[in-house]
Amino acid sequence: MKIVGGSAGRVLAVLIARKLGLNASEAEIKRFPDGEKYLRVDDDVTGQDVVIVQSIHHTSDDLLFEYFLLCDTIRGLGATRIIGVLPYFGYARQDSQFKPGEAVSFRTVAKLIEDVGTSELFSVDMHQHRIGRVSNVFSIPVHNLTAAPLLAEYVRSNTSLESPVVIGPDEESEQWALAAAKVIGADQDVLEKKRLTAEKVQIMTRSLAVRGRDVLLIDDIISTGDTIVSASKMLKEQGARRVIIACTHPILAHDALARIYATGAEIVVGTDTVPSPISHVSVAPLIADAIMRCLRSSPTLLEYVAGHN
Ligand code: R5P
Repeated sequence: MKIVGGSAGRVLAVLIARKLGLNASEAEIKRFPDGEKYLRVDDDVTGQDVVIVQSIHHTSDDLLFEYFLLCDTIRGLGATRIIGVLPYFGYARQDSQFKPGEAVSFRTVAKLIEDVGTSELFSVDMHQHRIGRVSNVFSIPVHNLTAAPLLAEYVRSNTSLESPVVIGPDEESEQWALAAAKVIGADQDVLEKKRLTAEKVQIMTRSLAVRGRDVLLIDDIISTGDTIVSASKMLKEQGARRVIIACTHPILAHDALARIYATGAEIVVGTDTVPSPISHVSVAPLIADAIMRCLRSSPTLLEYVAGHN
C-alpha cells in the first residue's frame, strides 16, 4: 500500500503513513508558466492500493482539480484501488438548491470524485445535514469519521473545567455536542440558528443553564465565525464563567479568529484537517485507525501493513 499527499495533504499523509508503519510517497506538483498544473508521480504503484490525502479548503477548486489529476494518474499507473482521504470535504455545504437554478455542488463534486476512479472515501465530519445518509450522494463506500471526541479530550486534558456543559450552536451540531459531552462527563444542549445569508446567521435568544459554568461550544466548521461569535456572545451575556470553543474544520475566513476571541472566549481549538493557528488536534490517528479497520476486511493488505510495522 502507498500513501501520497496532494499540496493540502502532505503533512497528514506523512502522519497517517507513520501510524500505519509506512513511508508517504511524494508527488511532484508545480505549475506550467501559463498557470496550469503539472503533476508527476515517480513511484511504482502498479498493483498497489493507494491512499491519496487532500483536504479541500480555501483554494478548493485548485485542490480538487489536483486530487482529480492525482487519482487519474495513479489509476493510469496501474494502482489496484484508490482510497481517497479528504479530511475537509469542501463544497459539501452547497448540498441543495436553496434558490431555483443553483448548482448542487456537493453532488457534482461527489460524482467527479467517483468518476475519476476513487474506490472508497474517508472524510472527517463531512457536512451532511440535509442529505441525510452519504449513500444518498455517493455510490462508493464513504466513511465519515468524527473528531468531536478528540477535541473534547484535548479540552478535558488542557483545562480544568468547572461545572461543564457542552453546547452546540445549532440543531445539526447536537451529534458533536453529545459525543463531546460523553468524553467530558457533562450535560449538553443546542441552540437554534437561522441562516440569513452565506455570511450572516442569527442565533435565537433563549435562556440557558450556563451561569457560573464552563461552556464548551462545539461545531463542525468555523468559516466566517458568525455562528460561533453570536453563540459565544449569548453565552457570556447569560453568565457563562468561561467559554471554550472547539471545531473540526477551522476555515477561519477573514478575521474570524479575532472576532471570536473578542467575545471573551478563552480557548479556541480545531484540528489539522485545515492547518491554522488553532489546529492543535491531529486527525491522523483517527484516519489511520479507520483505514486499519477497513483493511481488516482485506486480509492481504492487512498483512502488508502489519509486515511493515
Ligand atoms: C453549518 O451548518 C455548520 O455546521 C457551521 O455552523 C457553519 O458552517 C459555520 O459557518 P460560519 O462560521 O460562517 O457561521
